[in-house]
Amino acid sequence: MTTAGGIDTGMTDKVLRGRVLTFVRRPRAFDDDGSYEFWDDGAVAISSGKIVWRGGFGDLPNDYAGMDVVDHRPGLILPGFIDAHAHYVQMRVIASYGTQLLDWLERHTFPEEARFEDAAYAEQVASHYLDELIRQGVTTAVVYGSSHKASMDAFFSEAHARGMCMIAGKTLMDRGAPAVLLDTARSGYDDSKALINAWHGKGRLHYAITPRFAITCSAQQLELAGTLLKEEEGVYLQTHLSENHDEIEETLRLYPSARDYLDVYETAGLLGERSLFGHCLHLTDRERDAMRASQSVAVFCPTSNTFLGSGLFDYDGLRDAGIPVALASDVGGGTSYSMLATAAEAYKVCQMRGYSLNPLESFYQMTRGNADALSMADQIGSIEPQCAADLIVLDSLATPAMTVRMETAESLQDELFVLQTLGDDRSITATYVAGRQLK
Ligand code: GUN
Ligand code: ZN
Repeated sequence: MTTAGGIDTGMTDKVLRGRVLTFVRRPRAFDDDGSYEFWDDGAVAISSGKIVWRGGFGDLPNDYAGMDVVDHRPGLILPGFIDAHAHYVQMRVIASYGTQLLDWLERHTFPEEARFEDAAYAEQVASHYLDELIRQGVTTAVVYGSSHKASMDAFFSEAHARGMCMIAGKTLMDRGAPAVLLDTARSGYDDSKALINAWHGKGRLHYAITPRFAITCSAQQLELAGTLLKEEEGVYLQTHLSENHDEIEETLRLYPSARDYLDVYETAGLLGERSLFGHCLHLTDRERDAMRASQSVAVFCPTSNTFLGSGLFDYDGLRDAGIPVALASDVGGGTSYSMLATAAEAYKVCQMRGYSLNPLESFYQMTRGNADALSMADQIGSIEPQCAADLIVLDSLATPAMTVRMETAESLQDELFVLQTLGDDRSITATYVAGRQLK
């Protein structure tokens, strides 16, 4: 049976037919054809939420020949996008005018996050947020809640109901913000521990210990975050680092004995390959060395960095220095839920520094590259047997302007660049989560 167009809500066992693209390693150049696999008439066989086979449709093994076929031709089938840093509690903060980081937090962000003490409010926003990700073809995200435990119970519960792979945590903040948002070093530790026990490893959920940033965390709170990180197997750590000059200055004032900003986190034992540092815009050479030595991840949030006037991420410099890099929206400092728009802004930020980020690399980064940065490349980010069937279908002709532009596209790279530069949620024609079509 072939189901074209309509939403398929049935069993997850099926074959998707379309143009299939997946990456095998980081592309080194615009024409690095060895970095990806592509089938012009391809097929992805899905069973029990996982990919069991992919290749040319004509080569589909007999084992899968009896499965229902969903025909997405001429759509481009890719692994679902991965957003490596976002704040779900900032859906009503995005697009706030006129400030840079510290004023933006105080004026727009903290008052909104205070509302997440209310579990019903948190549930409503978490639901809107995850539905928006599905509309945008984002199947995994690394997410900050508010400081309230209830905000994360709501988020994890909604993500679990959708079968999505999510990494998230309650923000730790015991100073430097309105009282309604503050925890204590001890209550933050206890609430994080309770959330880990309730949700980490449940279905496809993972916990990230989430000290907001040094300005809102006492040394004792950071130390307890480090203790928790050592105690709990497989959890992540996420925080912000070196985003804004006033922020750096205030951090060094609050931590006068620190060698630099990163040293505040390093002293607390927070570095490592499961540690994600948002922004990393103004790093010193020593901070870069420590990031590389610990294989900590530098997360590039281009729409946030331009919107808040924070600075230009040194993508190629950090990558070439051997520091793991990831790409992220940073909603609501960032201005779009779309990873296509995020990649388009990444291109512009790199251009401002004299580097032309090639479209193979940006699509790699949004899929397998981010999965790799999250130590999850064996589970998500690729169209390979054993990976989850988190898949999206892209339409390069989604708008009249794209259709006109595509008339002169001559290569897969051209098409990807049109998608990232002109595309948005209208280019995402289907989103599958563990084989279930949710868009
Ligand atoms: N630094 C501390 N908190 C935040 C936040 O919510 N957004 C951004 N962009 N930077 C931060
Ligand atoms: Zn952030």
